[in-house]
Amino acid sequence: MGVFASTDDPSSTGHEQVVFCQDRQTGLRAIIGIYSTALGPALGGTRFHPYASEEAALADVLDLSRGMAYKNALAGLDLGGGKAVIWGDPEQIKSEALLRAYGRFVESLNGRYYTACDVGTYVADMDQVARETRYVTGRSVEHGGAGDSSVLTAWGVFQGMRAAAEHVWGIPTLNGRRVGVAGLGKVGKHLTRHLLDDHAEVVATDIDPRARDWVRANHPQVELVDDAAALVAADLDVYAPCALGGALSDDTVPVLRAKVVAGAANNQLAHPGIEKLLADRGILYAPDYVVNAGGVIQVADEIEGFNFDRAKLRATKIYDTTRQILRLADEEGLPPAVAADRLAERRMAEVGRLRTIHLR
Ligand SMILES: NC(=O)c1ccc[n+]([C@@H]2O[C@H](COP(=O)([O-])OP(=O)(O)OC[C@H]3O[C@@H](n4cnc5c(N)ncnc54)[C@H](O)[C@@H]3O)[C@@H](O)[C@H]2O)c1
Repeated sequence: MGVFASTDDPSSTGHEQVVFCQDRQTGLRAIIGIYSTALGPALGGTRFHPYASEEAALADVLDLSRGMAYKNALAGLDLGGGKAVIWGDPEQIKSEALLRAYGRFVESLNGRYYTACDVGTYVADMDQVARETRYVTGRSVEHGGAGDSSVLTAWGVFQGMRAAAEHVWGIPTLNGRRVGVAGLGKVGKHLTRHLLDDHAEVVATDIDPRARDWVRANHPQVELVDDAAALVAADLDVYAPCALGGALSDDTVPVLRAKVVAGAANNQLAHPGIEKLLADRGILYAPDYVVNAGGVIQVADEIEGFNFDRAKLRATKIYDTTRQILRLADEEGLPPAVAADRLAERRMAEVGRLRTIHLR
């Protein structure tokens, strides 16, 4: 989520539960963070990363699990927010036994936490984790999973972008707009296709020559620029960060020429306060965790037994949610990132409270 300053003190962050897991034989050291189960079991992926220290791993899981609670709330899911980190180099220590040991810890939470893929973990890993726990999504298609979540992530980003376009230009289309896509990876490629289908002009960049070759071969009408700095400074209507976090910073926002920012990358605001800088420059920012929720919608659908059409319908609603946030932001004179946080908090409080109605 947009404006959260990280802290490594769980007692001050409002998390429900933080679980440290260790299995010496396999080298597993994991931390599972459950921020909130107000709306249902906590869902969020497992990040496998060689953190510099246990403190760094803890700070990350606290931030990420809180972010998932907000994302899942605004995605309309009956799921709370959680996340896990495995501390170590996946290249060195990832093994069947380690993943299954981790799966047993997930199982021990009895359904309070559902895991999925994140940076450093893949569908094949979730298939291993699933040999020890029922509480796992993001599995391979052969195992009833949804497969690559970037399909609906890109669809949802496109819907959020349409809502932002409507807010600024009065019609929910990118037809005739110049859209800059930074990062032509799994999401960026699908997004480019949706934009071209909507008759937008696409300008793009990627540091990977294979991604640039893909564009030249498949969509020669897309204009390629050298790097993200050139894209930010280009004559754009919309900027879509689809690579790494921190795309909106003290360096990029002052030179950004686009009127709208809507993209897939997580944590686009480099630090709290950037959302105000964007608002001051008259740039409409569609909050990242709102518009990129298509992926979590896709994996969450697996819990019911995956149905692509149902999941796509839910991801299409990102258009309505983005509209609602942008309207609230205008009405209350707030940056959209703050308005989004308020709506998420409202849903967690209002729907979460219903559990206090005693049933038996
Ligand atoms: N895949 C999903 O379902 C999903 C869901 C939610 C959020 N996201 C976020 O969206 C972003 C893209 O995800 P993805 O799955 O497409 O990842 P990916 O790794 O497939 O693609 C990222 C692309 O960005 C390029 N890139 C990296 N640094 C760059 C730079 N400085 N300038 C230009 N290009 C650069 C890479 O070469 C790569 O092609 C990530 O931030 C991810 O966390 C993805």
